[in-house]
Order: sequence, then structure tokens, then C-alpha cells
Amino acid sequence: MRPHMRNLNLLLILLLLGLHLCSVLSWKRDEFRNCNQTPFCKRARSRKPGSCSLVARHASISDGELTAKLLTKNQDNVEDHDQIQPLVLTLSVYQDGILRLKIDEDPSLGPPKKRFEVPDVIVPEFSNTKLWLQRVSTETIEGDAEPSSIVYISDGYEAVLRHDPFEVYVREKGNGNRVISLNSHGFFDFEQLRTKREGEEWEERFRSHTDSRPYGPQSISFDVSFYGADFVYGIPEHATSLALKPTRGPGVEDSEPYRLFNLDVFEYIHDSPFGIYGSIPFMISHGKQRGTSGFFWLNAAEMQIDVMGAGWDAESGIALPSEKNRIDTFWMSEAGIVDTFFFVGPGPKDVVRRYTSVTGMPAMPQLFATAYHQCRWNYRDEEDVDHVDSKFDEHNIPYDVLWLDIDHTDGKRYFTWDSTLFPHPEEMQRKLATKGRHMVTIVDPHIKRDDSYHVHKEATQKGYYVKDAHGNDFDGWCWPGSSSYLDMLSPEIRSWWADRFSLENYVGSTPSLYIWNDMNEPSVFNGPELTMPRDSLHFGGFEHRELHNAYGYYFHMATAEGLVKRGEGKDRPFVLSRALFAGSQRYGAIWTGDNSADWDHLRVSVPMVLTLGLTGMPFSGADVGGFFGNPEPELLVRWYQLGAYYPFFRGHAHHDTKRREPWLFGERNTELIRDAIHVRYMLLPYFYTLFREANTSGVPVVRPLWMEFPSEEATFSNDEAFMVGSSILVQGIYTERAKHASVYLPGGQSWFDLRTGTAYKGGLTHKLGVSEDSVPAFQRAGTIIPRKDRFRRSSTQMVNDPYTLVIALNSSQAAEGKLYVDDGKSFEFERGAYIHRRFVFSDGKLTSMNLAPVSPGKSQFSSETVVERIVVLGHVHRAKSAVIEPTNRKVDIELGPLWLQWGRESAAVTIRKPGVRIADNWTIKIL
Ligand code: NOJ
Repeated sequence: MRPHMRNLNLLLILLLLGLHLCSVLSWKRDEFRNCNQTPFCKRARSRKPGSCSLVARHASISDGELTAKLLTKNQDNVEDHDQIQPLVLTLSVYQDGILRLKIDEDPSLGPPKKRFEVPDVIVPEFSNTKLWLQRVSTETIEGDAEPSSIVYISDGYEAVLRHDPFEVYVREKGNGNRVISLNSHGFFDFEQLRTKREGEEWEERFRSHTDSRPYGPQSISFDVSFYGADFVYGIPEHATSLALKPTRGPGVEDSEPYRLFNLDVFEYIHDSPFGIYGSIPFMISHGKQRGTSGFFWLNAAEMQIDVMGAGWDAESGIALPSEKNRIDTFWMSEAGIVDTFFFVGPGPKDVVRRYTSVTGMPAMPQLFATAYHQCRWNYRDEEDVDHVDSKFDEHNIPYDVLWLDIDHTDGKRYFTWDSTLFPHPEEMQRKLATKGRHMVTIVDPHIKRDDSYHVHKEATQKGYYVKDAHGNDFDGWCWPGSSSYLDMLSPEIRSWWADRFSLENYVGSTPSLYIWNDMNEPSVFNGPELTMPRDSLHFGGFEHRELHNAYGYYFHMATAEGLVKRGEGKDRPFVLSRALFAGSQRYGAIWTGDNSADWDHLRVSVPMVLTLGLTGMPFSGADVGGFFGNPEPELLVRWYQLGAYYPFFRGHAHHDTKRREPWLFGERNTELIRDAIHVRYMLLPYFYTLFREANTSGVPVVRPLWMEFPSEEATFSNDEAFMVGSSILVQGIYTERAKHASVYLPGGQSWFDLRTGTAYKGGLTHKLGVSEDSVPAFQRAGTIIPRKDRFRRSSTQMVNDPYTLVIALNSSQAAEGKLYVDDGKSFEFERGAYIHRRFVFSDGKLTSMNLAPVSPGKSQFSSETVVERIVVLGHVHRAKSAVIEPTNRKVDIELGPLWLQWGRESAAVTIRKPGVRIADNWTIKIL
């Protein structure tokens, strides 16, 4: 390129980036479509209840499924061009009461093209759990002219396919109470693909963009009702409350629906149904009356979901059997098929467990990834990295990972290094690694269109880019300027991408380097709504509109697979992604994107993280401190105090913000932040145990209170407080200079202040004094928490440190807890190389029992690590000493602090130096 041309280009890039950065300053509502500007959403929302005229016919069992045709009522004898072609419906049943309903066009009737069915989200094992339906029974529902088909789901539930009017629902056997239903309000609509007729106008325009829409309208919409429900939750990602507020009906006439469309929204507002970076079309209902149920629609096109407020249907004339405690919702998607899953619960954990049995169990992270991460856009150069790293040591603050943002690269060409700023990347990483620390670099999906850039050259030659509507490589603007995007839908391209992460291909990388995938919605600065045009083309001829919400998921998947390949299958990957979809939990962590340094964003981070956990994504967190803006020290401290309990705990900031490493705000604030980070490090054994629980059951690391106390109504809409596992309750402080906090402590048992050990009664709201030292946090009576109390530089250096067990006794002087330990790194745990213990305290005795299956020949994990302290809270008897069985060794008991560091006020019964190994069976009897 000639120099003046290059300058011109540079100017253009700067201009565009400038524009982009301007828009960074506030959310530009006009950049994004609302429902009225989105024709499929507008059409669907204007439909009236009862407008569906479909009936189900020809129901029969074939291949272990119930199949039927959906047709318009008098279709059999009317010849009409515009009439919809019969649709094919299948109902299938899987173990644990999971019902799957699919509706698609009939391939035998020759639709213009196959509609997109999202591959690679449902795990292959799921199909093995299918129950082979043998028969269908019939029953005439009161008032109906013809019988409905009934199929078995599980011992307690059955599914009903009502033929006329068409409706599908799950009901309890015996009493017939409904659990979830679809099309009870007759909203179902399925726009079929057609060939364009003369004069038909299919194009859609938004701002300066035109969507050619070659296949015309193809949206799907229907209503779903949840029975015995007080609230609905889920469908991330939105910055909004945990219990979803109504978006349609009396009093909310102007509300937008909850939008699921992955978008790069700068400075998103803190209370809005607007779509941001990720989409999981999974909703959970919960109520005192019936418990929990769930509904998942596997569809990756833009989706909009309304939660109907009470009275929305006052004039519909449709009366459903259960009018009370029913929540109606309305689902609309631009394309794809109906592929839906109904989960019956009845407990919240059952629903999440089953949802993850469909979409996959969350990945087990490496230990280091569960510790504290330090990030900033950008750590300037190697000297800066070195400086930040040594300051953490100087201030005695542990951290595990140092992150490099886009500016570490050579002109935003990922997999490269700016050779002036980072001339010795390997040495830099090795230096960190000697302290047990890791590095993360950013790798985004936009590939700089530069012929001298090897990634671009090869991708172009191989034809690996997404194509525009005309079949040319799609060219859009992002950080590097003109960029193309790899077509991650293709397994071949994903495999090629994965190979980019080998140590040979990623020059300057070392085995202690892990990856950050950002901008993978994908973000396209000059695209419609800052993303890829919907008529762009992917592998298999699918349009981008059909898979948009899963693009980032595939990118995340390919990157995680790259790290697995790099480590020859022996090293668990760590990849943080911004975009997400159902199933992302299998590939790593996500964070909630570009939040702001204000109290409202601190506040909304809790429902956001909780919602992600409820929908299968346990490993998430928000940027501590807020990405945009400069937090006041008090806000920063409060954010660390809360963020220490996020599953993913990372400080991060925009490059325009002032530096905010923990030691920059005076001694007292440094001390407070250090304390907050120390709390996380002390609790790492507990967190790691919870990550393993998530990995085997899908049950999230942090949970809404109602997940642990499902019958306590007072908890249903509480999203200021949350549970970490089942043993710790945390209440954030979301206001400046707070002196008091009202904290509701659920259940009939007491709660012990995590720091002071002070006991509080359960089942009450306590007005508590709040100090600057910490946010309120409590250990639930009846639990045992494993801790590590010695402070090191990083989690890796704590591996052989001894444990502290904190026993909080309930009113029966009993408690229990678990500990999971493995090598923290490899996949050997999948072959049984781990320690899993259950601790039970009762009758004055603490017993450690093995939970791991004992099978000869399995891989082994051994550890010499011992328990150095056992603290007992709520112990009502006098205790002088303890004896350890089976060795009969006596150990001392004394009153000691709950926390060695801050426990001045507390004096808890403490068993000193029991020295028992965590790998062994033992009993300690208090005398
Ligand atoms: C946007 C991300 O959300 C942010 O975290 C990152 O620092 C910038 N992109 C630059 O890479």
C-alpha cells in the first residue's frame, strides 16, 4: 500500500474508532431496534389471543415418539394458495420427566429450504435418555369435540396434546393440575418459507442498513403458561431484576419485551429488558404452591419474550383451568424451528440439573481460574506488567492472573505481540509462572484484513470467512479496521481455529497463557445494530439471522478446544467469553461486559450473575469497579467486598479511566481491598468444592435464596442477597455511606456472622449496623465450611497449605459439609483422581467420610494436606479437649478467633492442630 493511502486508511480508522468511543459515553438507544422497528416482533405482538386456527391431526406413535400434523381447521378440503402447509409436530420424552416438543415444516412438502436447527448444543448423551414411547392414550377433555392424546412422561406427570384447539401441556397425574402449557391462549403462529411472488416487498431497512431477507418472513411465536407460579426468572442476558417484571399488560403498556439478541451495547443501562451480549432462551418459574418448572427453546435467532402482567387477558374471553398463580409469557423468534423442552421440577435444583442434562454440565475450571484476576485495558508494556505484579507482592495481596487487552498485539492482529511494548512475551509469562501466576491475552473474532497477516491470508485462501449476502467475504469494521469473521458454524473451521492456539502457531505463548474472547456477538462497528448483517451467509447456506445468538458460543467452543488441543488433552482450558448461548457453560467463564462505575451497576450485577447461574452458567462475574468511569474509593471497596463472592472475580477498567490497582487509594482502602481478596482466597476450598458440584449437577455456585429455601415466599424476589453454595449468605451494600442494612435471614436455624461469629436468628429481617470492613455475610447453622487461612501470592502456592474447618452448629448441635480436592489442573479427575469428603458433626463428634467411589484401577490423587484448625460455632457444651480416632491422640481445645487475622471480637471453640489428613477417614470426639 502506498504511504499516503495508508495514512488515509489510518485516519479513517481513527475516525471510526473515535465515533465508536464517543458512543461509548452513553447508551445510544437509537442505534438499536425496538420491537416496533422489528417487523416480526411488531407483527407477533399485535396478534390477538385465540388467533391460532391450527388443529392437530393424524397423531400416532412412530420411532418411540408421538407425531402429528398441524393444519388449519378445514385444510383437508380447501384449496387455498395462502393457506399454511401442514407442519410436523413431534413429542418425545426423556428420563427425569423431560418433555420435548418440536414443530417444523414438513420436508416432504418441499419447503424452499431447510430451516436452521441449532446443532452442537444438546449433548450427545442426552439422546440416550430418551424413553421409547409405546402407546398413546386418548381422553376427551371437558368441552372438547374430539379426544386429546395423552403420553406418559414420568410416574407423576403426563403430557397432553390437545387436538382442537391445538395445545400442549404437562399435567400432574391423578389431580390433573397443569404445570406448563403452550398455546393455551391461541397465539401460536409459524410463518412458513415461501418463494417470493411478483411485487412482494421483503426487504427491511433500519437506519442506513438494508436486510435483503431473501426468504421473507419466517418468524414463530407462541404463548407459554406456568402454573402455580409466583414469579418467572431466567432468559439472560439482561441488566434487570432477578424476578422478571411484566412487560405487557395493564400499567406496562410502553414496555419493550425482553430481547434476546447478542449485541455489543456500550454502557448498558442498569434496569432494562434490552438485549446485551448473551442469550439463553430458558425460563424458570417458581411458586409456593407448586415449586419450580422450566421451559427452554433451542433457537438461535433473535428472540423477544413478553412476561404478561396480571389482567393482560381481561378481554381475551379465554378462561384457563387455573387462573390463580399462573404466569403467562409470549415468545417470538425471527427464524428457526420450534424445539422446546419442558422441565417439571418440582425443586429449583431439579430444574437446573435437568436443563444441564440437555445442554451440558458446566466445565470444571482450573483452581487458579477461581481466584482473583487483575485486568485493565491496557497494561502498557512488560515493565508495567512487572510493576503491577510486584506491587501485589509488596502489598501482600494475592492474585492469580494478569490480563492483557487488545493493545498488546501488533495492530490488533491476534496471536501477535507488539514487539516494542512486549519484546519478551515468553519470559514475561515465565516470570509470572514462577510465582504460580498465569497470564490471559485477548483474542477477538474479527480478523484484520491484511494480506501480510498469516491468519487472514490462510483464512482467505481456505475460504473460511462468513460471506456477505452477495457471496463475498464479509468485510466489517472493528478494532483493527477492515476485518473479516471466521465462520465458526463449520466444524472444519473451528478445528483450524483451535490449531491457532498451539505453542508453535501462537508464537510467544507459553503453557501458562490462557485466553479471553471478547466482541464475539459478533461486534461490527459499521454493521446494523453494531453487529453482522442478518443476511450474511454461513456454512451450509444458513443465514446469519438464523444463528446469530450462537455465533459467540461457537467461537468460545473453538477457542476452548484449541487450549485443550494445545495441552494434549491434559490441561483444562480457561477461556472467558463475552457472548454466550445455551451450552456456553461447557466452555468456560463469561462476564457481564461493559458495566459502569456506579452503585446501580454494582447492584444489578447480583441479579445478573444469579440469573446466569439459574440458566446453567455458573462461572460468571461483573467487572469489579465498573468498566466505564472512575469509582469513588468507597464504591471500589464495596465492589471488591461483593465481587469476592462472584464465581468469576476480576477487576477491569476502560483505558480512559484512572489507574485503580488496589494500592492506589491510600492505606486504609488498600487494607480493605486486601481483606476482601483475602476472604476469597480463604474460601477457595469451598468455592472449588462448589464448582465441582456445578460440574456434576449443574447447580450453580451462587444461588438465589429461594433455591435453598424454596418455600419461603420472602425470598422469591430478593436479589440483594444471595447464597454462595448452601452455606453462606451474602448481602451486598449498594449505597454510599451505608450505616445499616436490612438483611433477611431465611429458614428456622441461626446464622453466624462470617467474621465475628455472632449468631442471628433465622426467619427474620435484621437491621444490622454496617461497617466499612466488609459486606454482611453469614454462615448457615448446620454447615461446615473448609477454608485455607494462610496467605500466599497465588492460589497455586496454597496447594499444600493446611485446612481450617468452620463448623456452625444448628439447634441439634449438628452440622455437615463437603470438600472436593483434585490436582486443580488436569482432566485426571474425570478418571477418579480426586478427594471428595463429607464431614458430619453430631453427638459431639466430627467424622470425615469418603464420598468418592472406590474402584480399583482408577486414577489416584493423593494429598498429605492436613487440617490445622477446627472452629466450632454455636457449641453449647463445655469442651476441654478432643480425642482423634482411630489413633486415640488427644488434642487441645481452646477459645480462639474465628479468623486469625480479624477475629479480635470472636472467641470460638477451637480444636488446635488436629493434624488429620484430609484424605483419611477419621473421627474427632469433643470431650
Ligand atoms: C470491550 C470489552 O467489553 C472490554 O472489556 C475490553 O476492555 C474492550 N472491549 C477492549 O478490548
